[in-house]
Amino acid sequence: MEQITDYLCRYKNYNFAIDLTTAEHIDSLQSFEIRDSDVFLVTYPKSGTIWTQQIIVSICELAGGLNEYQNNLEQMPWLEYREAREDYSLRPSPRLFASHLTPVLLPPGLKDKKAKIIYVMRNPKDNIVSYYHFCNNCGDLETPKGFEDFFEQYLKGNVGASSWFDHIREWHSKRDQYNILFLNYEDMILDLKAAVTKICTFLGKNLSDAAIEQVVEKATFNNMKKDSKANYEFLPPEKVTRDFMRKGKIGDWKNTFSAAQSQRVDQLLQERLCDLSLEFIWE
Ligand code: A3P
Repeated sequence: MEQITDYLCRYKNYNFAIDLTTAEHIDSLQSFEIRDSDVFLVTYPKSGTIWTQQIIVSICELAGGLNEYQNNLEQMPWLEYREAREDYSLRPSPRLFASHLTPVLLPPGLKDKKAKIIYVMRNPKDNIVSYYHFCNNCGDLETPKGFEDFFEQYLKGNVGASSWFDHIREWHSKRDQYNILFLNYEDMILDLKAAVTKICTFLGKNLSDAAIEQVVEKATFNNMKKDSKANYEFLPPEKVTRDFMRKGKIGDWKNTFSAAQSQRVDQLLQERLCDLSLEFIWE
């Protein structure tokens, strides 16, 4: 891995937070054996990962047959991080994994289209603001000099997980190679029950309406904030403060962005992603 800042290193065209993984581990994912029953949640950071993680874990728990782990992070660990040093090949099925990786870095076995991937995307303006606040509160990431500076670094892809634009393009353009469900953070905000039902159907879990309602209740912002298994307050305070659950809204970017910054993002979307015909909800 090539160290590029005090907090970031680069490997295979992708920026990792220092100390969370190794080149050997990332290489080993190329031969990591995928099972048909595996479920992956893939996101660019700050797109609603722990929210969707709570939904998937709750659905699988209610459907039965899931091994019990202490919290959502242990139940659905990030495949790329090496903190736990657990050998996931020894885990009983069904296994749940989260990841921020791009397609090329994930196990090729996912292309057999049997294992399932849920990809959650968030509008980039809210994503930048959420990422900015997170970096201000996360011991593993560099504290930004200010929003303006962070905004520039983000647009250049000089942040953990590299460029949001590349991440979206990579996953959308390779969608046909995977058994993948795309979701938008904003749609989840506007109709959580519809999102939960969609995820449930995609996972092939047959839950009653009452059980679906139970999942929805567990996944509301206020309930998740109180849920110690889901809100990541179990992480040591020097790593992350409470900013995994910050505001949970659409349109917070308007409190931070200048008009010029907003136009820059619009222009970049046009230049870099217009062929994907993505639609964003901004407020
Ligand atoms: P904000 O910083 O805008 O509040 P990730 O889990 O990928 O790190 O994403 C974190 C973002 O998802 C944060 O956004 C967080 O508040 C939001 N989030 C987490 N749980 C949520 C929920 N139950 N409902 C809505 N937003 C949620």
